[in-house]
Amino acid sequence: MTTTKRSYSQNLALLSIGFILFIALIYQPLPQDFPQPWKYRVICFGSKLVTKIVCKLENIYLFLANANVLFQSYVLENLNLLKRIEAIRLLYYISIGCFQIRNPQHQLKIYDMIVGNVSVRVYQPLEYGSQDLMPAIIHFHGGGFMIGCIDTYDVVTYTIANQTRAIVLSVEYRRIPEHSFPSALNDSMSVAFEIFHNALRYKIDINRIALAGDSAGGNLALVITQHLIRDGFKPKLTCLMYPVLQFFDFTLPSYQQYLPRGILGIINQENLVYVISQLSGRVLVTHDMMQNNHTSINNKQRLYPYLNPQEYLPKHYQPTVKSLDMTENPLMTKTLEYLTTPDISPLLVSDQELQKLPIILLFTAEFDILRDEGFIFAERLKRLNKQLYHYHFNSAFHGSHVLLNGPLKFDYAWIMIEKTTEAIRKYL
Ligand SMILES: *[C@@H]1O[C@H](CO)[C@@H](O)[C@H](O)[C@H]1NC(C)=O
Ligand SMILES: *[C@@H]1O[C@H](CO)[C@@H](O)[C@H](O)[C@H]1NC(C)=O
Ligand SMILES: *[C@@H]1O[C@H](CO)[C@@H](O)[C@H](O)[C@H]1NC(C)=O
Ligand SMILES: *[C@@H]1O[C@H](CO)[C@@H](O)[C@H](O)[C@H]1NC(C)=O
Repeated sequence: MTTTKRSYSQNLALLSIGFILFIALIYQPLPQDFPQPWKYRVICFGSKLVTKIVCKLENIYLFLANANVLFQSYVLENLNLLKRIEAIRLLYYISIGCFQIRNPQHQLKIYDMIVGNVSVRVYQPLEYGSQDLMPAIIHFHGGGFMIGCIDTYDVVTYTIANQTRAIVLSVEYRRIPEHSFPSALNDSMSVAFEIFHNALRYKIDINRIALAGDSAGGNLALVITQHLIRDGFKPKLTCLMYPVLQFFDFTLPSYQQYLPRGILGIINQENLVYVISQLSGRVLVTHDMMQNNHTSINNKQRLYPYLNPQEYLPKHYQPTVKSLDMTENPLMTKTLEYLTTPDISPLLVSDQELQKLPIILLFTAEFDILRDEGFIFAERLKRLNKQLYHYHFNSAFHGSHVLLNGPLKFDYAWIMIEKTTEAIRKYL
């Protein structure tokens, strides 16, 4: 009879093999100066795994739902976790959201209020007296218009307030998939215009108001800056962390380079198509969008000069082949036409419009599908002699600056926040 008990060395061997397999599974090449590369690899692997499991569950669930009406009604009401969006939000919550632990050292009064009929969290420095007017930052969080909220950005926003000593108003705008475009923009505009219209009532110095945001929040910040200027208001500066600046050209080199790699395991083609479909009110979006087939030939000709990479990208980022495909998919061009308007693509405006912008603080990251539109924006502003502070994080990936706490903490995130607040302090 053989013994069922494995020896210590057998266990050790199994463990080592398991470990090597795990390393092989999660390995992806990253440049030498990438901060905390193994942590990044584990995050990517984890989120891909969860997405895979959820997609499998989705299929099983659809199968059962089709087979059984009772199951369908039960599952629909009780287990909406099986939906892609809930899975992504859960993933986001367990990786970032639940680690929003405030360091009690801050010198701020923090409270929630309604501004312009929208919820806002206020981070107010304690040193101002009742007669003082405060510099202000209206902050729009990122998350692809889909995830993120004022709670999951709490550490980011209180740190910005603590380090800039400006009052920060963090805006709880409506998100997709529940609310499509322009819900987020409307809510964010409502807050910004209320602050500019009634700055005194909020003890805010109207000459020292900044708009700030990252990713989708950066998109909102710049779009709203343009609206405010059109209405005669003068924001002092706009601070953009890897902002979304356009939905027109998805063939820019940074898209081609990083979309297939799936930054953080979630910024991939499938999720991008999902976001655009939900933004647009759940219309059909097909994958030829990635070849810009969602824009009409007319719009391609009209708008391409605003971001032509051959014209505006630094040499080392330039595409090897010029590839503006001159076809269009009429199933998409009508429903997605709004994507080429400045209300969601603030880069697609004339030099005259750019000329009116306030001081721009722009931060880009190397590992980011949005890298190139940031550089194109910077180059256009430079040629207009606009006041611009552009800092490129050479070894950061999209979304990294929110990883300030918890097991996924990237030490580099603190450097990114420090860089941002340093610039805001200097220019606001
Ligand atoms: C707030 O800012 C001060 C001064 O920069 C710093 O010493 C302190 O650690 C900060 N507190 C938090 C909680 O970030
Ligand atoms: C304020 O928001 C509520 C829902 O949050 C809505 O029912 C109401 O119509 C809004 N009022 C205005 C003036 O927009
Ligand atoms: C957004 O605002 C516009 C103009 O005020 C309004 O017509 C539209 O109904 C609003 N849409 C949403 C989704 O809030
Ligand atoms: C764009 O759409 C048209 C019409 O559906 C199709 O004929 C063409 O091949 C598509 N182009 C690309 C690059 O997918």
